[in-house]
Amino acid sequence: MERTPPFICAIGDIGVDLVMGMLEQWPQIGTELILPRSELRAGGSAGNAVLALRHAGVPARLVSAVGNDDFGRWLRAQFDGVDARLSVCPCATTVSVGLMHSCSERNFFTTEGHLAAFTLEQALSQLPEAVPGSLALLTGVFLLPGLRAHYLTLMTELRARGYQVALDTGWPSEGWTDAVRSELRGWLAHCDHLLLNELEVCKLAGVDAVPQAMALVQSWLRPEATLVVKAGARGAMACKGAQQLSQATQAADVFDTIGAGDSFNAGYLAALLQGASLQQALASACRVATAVLSRFPRQTIKPGEFSDLLAQPA
Ligand SMILES: Nc1ncnc2c1ncn2[C@@H]1O[C@H](COP(=O)(O)OP(=O)(O)OP(=O)(O)O)[C@@H](O)[C@H]1O
Ligand SMILES: [Mg+2]
Repeated sequence: MERTPPFICAIGDIGVDLVMGMLEQWPQIGTELILPRSELRAGGSAGNAVLALRHAGVPARLVSAVGNDDFGRWLRAQFDGVDARLSVCPCATTVSVGLMHSCSERNFFTTEGHLAAFTLEQALSQLPEAVPGSLALLTGVFLLPGLRAHYLTLMTELRARGYQVALDTGWPSEGWTDAVRSELRGWLAHCDHLLLNELEVCKLAGVDAVPQAMALVQSWLRPEATLVVKAGARGAMACKGAQQLSQATQAADVFDTIGAGDSFNAGYLAALLQGASLQQALASACRVATAVLSRFPRQTIKPGEFSDLLAQPA
């Protein structure tokens, strides 16, 4: 009998994204602006990650939810080729309008929608049994109050079911209060991979310099865990035990940076799953992220189109 290989399962937020741009300046109230570019697509951090895995030709699982409306049915259909286990919440689907500015900044307008209704029970009931070596990617926690309240239970259950846990917290909706920082610290002991950006690692550590922040946060992780820090167009850094690595990336002129961190996470975990070293995994992560960001509209990316961007087995 053929054995199922280890896999990546993303657990987190998905939603409907309407991305538009470019804006030269913020418009006056009461006016209408015609924008040259737009794309309606699946988004959310877990959604972006599994779509990047599909672009890289890596089988992915997704545990998430949709609302019980037309957008929910449309959203489900966008994950063709992904093993998507989506609960249906009795409310509208979360919708996000992302406005791109010519100065590279962006604004999002997001409805609460189904993400506020997603529960731990729904997530656990959809969770596949892990094959040894499988990775669970936890993302978007601050948009998922029902999961956030029980995140430790979810992480404990994931480990009990044989998963390695990768956590990307994203930006806390209420800011980096002391309460948020200590809540987050409580999760760290359950992580095998912590994936943050430079500002997030500094805010979590409560210091301004990235190297000091990384050293402090690493000391809060288990000794065998890996801390990865994403640095935008400059690439990424990582530390694990005594190893300290950095990876430069090819800067690209990008219209739409949505999903940069999520595509990076996908490339990183996919490379590790294929036996890559930490350095190779960082390089693969940067290649996948840059390749995804450089494409607009994203829906033109074909399944497996980026498979040659993953590292070869070590
Ligand atoms: N302008 C760029 N040019 C090339 N690559 C980029 C650019 N911006 C981001 N990347 C790639 O995407 C990766 C992740 O981006 P970033 O550091 O912005 O993560 P993030 O802040 O978590 O992103 P997000 O805002 O999506 O959460 C980077 O490590 C890099 O590989
Ligand atoms: Mg991020």
